[in-house]
Amino acid sequence: QLIVTDRLASIGELSSGIAHELNNPLTGVIGFSDLLLDRDLPDDIKEDVEIISREAKRTAGVVRNLLTFARKHETERNRVNINSIIEKVLELRAYEQKVSNIEVNTRFAFDLPEIMADGFRLQQVFLNIIINAEHFMTEAHGRGTLTITTEQLGDIIRASFADDGSGIAKENLEHLFDPFFTTKEVGKGTGLGLSISYGIITEHGSNIHLKSFTGEDPLTKGNNCRFIFSY
Ligand SMILES: Nc1ncnc2c1ncn2[C@@H]1O[C@H](COP(=O)(O)OP(=O)(O)OP(=O)(O)O)[C@@H](O)[C@H]1O
Ligand SMILES: [Mg+2]
Repeated sequence: QLIVTDRLASIGELSSGIAHELNNPLTGVIGFSDLLLDRDLPDDIKEDVEIISREAKRTAGVVRNLLTFARKHETERNRVNINSIIEKVLELRAYEQKVSNIEVNTRFAFDLPEIMADGFRLQQVFLNIIINAEHFMTEAHGRGTLTITTEQLGDIIRASFADDGSGIAKENLEHLFDPFFTTKEVGKGTGLGLSISYGIITEHGSNIHLKSFTGEDPLTKGNNCRFIFSY
């Protein structure tokens, strides 16, 4: 764990340097291509400029992720309810999920005690997990069912996210939380989602582990990948 944290720290420094360097020229590319788009351009040129603008904006998104990853601000702790945080994330994803045929089943413990946590950052963690689930379920079979459960076990609060996507190959399991590890197609994922989440979770003194199955395992009842957060 120490080694992982150490490696995360140096990658964090390196990437924030790169991100800052990239930010200025990118702002120029985006700004000027948008200005061009306001002009009366022939259709073929307009299409090319649109591609420049779109790709520059996507790159800016990657840079933003890198900066989030690198930023080491103090966490702000308040009393929060895990159920409400997850519900907020689901609201954010409702439209995407609807058009991608993703069904979400929630089994929330209704009397869950509040915890002291940075709600915004936990929201980021759950958002990452849920977007990953959506992606790998749609990729596996064009639809999906995500089951989210919260429960209290003694003085531990748990939230689990089980999807019926592709599962995770054995040889990838140990790399999942590594910065930049991704199995998404080139250009689709930064591989930072889970490493950022891991950082947030350890900052909270909480924990995440996962169970994953590939292939047809009748025991898992189609829940191929399950991320379990405990606090
Ligand atoms: N629900 C899931 N089902 C299958 N594989 C998963 C799931 N969640 C994560 N993974 C694996 O873990 C890898 C790393 O996930 P992570 O969120 O860190 O990056 P990413 O999703 O690939 O990129 P980004 O978060 O920038 O979109 C994924 O590429 C995938 O291989
Ligand atoms: Mg991700």
